[in-house]
Amino acid sequence: MDARIAAARATLGTDVVLLGHHYQRDEVIRFADYTGDSYKLSKVASQTDAKYMLFCGVHFMAETADVLAKPFQQVILPDLNAGCSMADMAEIGQVEDCWDSLERAGLTEDILPLTYMNSAAAIKAFCGERGGLVCTSSNAHGAFEWAFARKPKILFLPDQHLGRNTAFAMGIPLSEMVVWDPYQINGGLSPDRLKAAKVILWKGHCSVHQRFLPEHVDRIRATDPGMQVIVHPECRWEVCQKADAIGSTERIIEVIEKAPEGASFAVGTEIHLVNRLAKRFAPLGKKVITLDDSGCLCTTMYRISPQHLAWSLENLLQGTVVNRIKVDDDVKHWAKVALDRMLEVKA
Ligand code: 13P
Ligand code: SF4
Repeated sequence: MDARIAAARATLGTDVVLLGHHYQRDEVIRFADYTGDSYKLSKVASQTDAKYMLFCGVHFMAETADVLAKPFQQVILPDLNAGCSMADMAEIGQVEDCWDSLERAGLTEDILPLTYMNSAAAIKAFCGERGGLVCTSSNAHGAFEWAFARKPKILFLPDQHLGRNTAFAMGIPLSEMVVWDPYQINGGLSPDRLKAAKVILWKGHCSVHQRFLPEHVDRIRATDPGMQVIVHPECRWEVCQKADAIGSTERIIEVIEKAPEGASFAVGTEIHLVNRLAKRFAPLGKKVITLDDSGCLCTTMYRISPQHLAWSLENLLQGTVVNRIKVDDDVKHWAKVALDRMLEVKA
């Protein structure tokens, strides 16, 4: 596979650019021209001039690249099964129903919808059309500030944990946040609770990050008090509260890179990244372990295999674009507005 991928890439030259998210497995990420977190990869997607962007990540990332792409560019997701269970927890129909309920309660004038990058393009467009924006885990704080400068309340989709962690870090108490459950009438919330809330959090989560528990941090503290705990903001609030640092995948890497020799870290994020960091930093005298011993992989990221990569590239050699990700034109306009606003907010 390695030889076939390398040969196809060599022939395609600068026509193709390979974008790899940090959670990809080693056999795939080693071929990436650019690696990064969601923010960095969307910046690259908005700047590259390659004819084809081969996205080694998940569906919402490839959709974002297509929205930000120039008209002559095409985006490919090597395996269409590479989705994101969190993004699937908010469907556009549910979000529209939620907004209708908020409108009936007379609240929408005061609410700005803000969606995490991990959402379908239609939801990004929904936010853009209503004056809102997209954020990633690396610029969520800035995006919240952007939103609060315009409206007194935020509807945050679809990750309740990132929303809660970001708002709390800005000084908003938990008592001023509510969770909207799309499977309950009126989100399961009374009009009074909705009126009093500053942040309405969608009831979504990442199955990979929600597995990390406060007990895991306690165990590290008891067994290795010198170890620093660093977690992704998709982890539960209780876990983030106990951590020494919180950050996007890019930030986690940066913290470890900047640490002195001898530093050690227990990291609460996807296992492929943690294992790669462990290998990379061991020769530099830094220890990296997973926060949860049972390890946690993002099964959808893992769908992108060397076989899929070789297949997509070899098809390109024949002039065939397989698994093209193309966002509908009517969705594209407002999704791009929301993403452009995001790119203006610094990571
Ligand atoms: P990052 O933006 O930190 O890369 O996160 C994306 C993601 O899906 C984490 O689960
Ligand atoms: Fe989605 Fe979680 Fe996988 Fe990130 S780690 S892509 S949020 S399922």
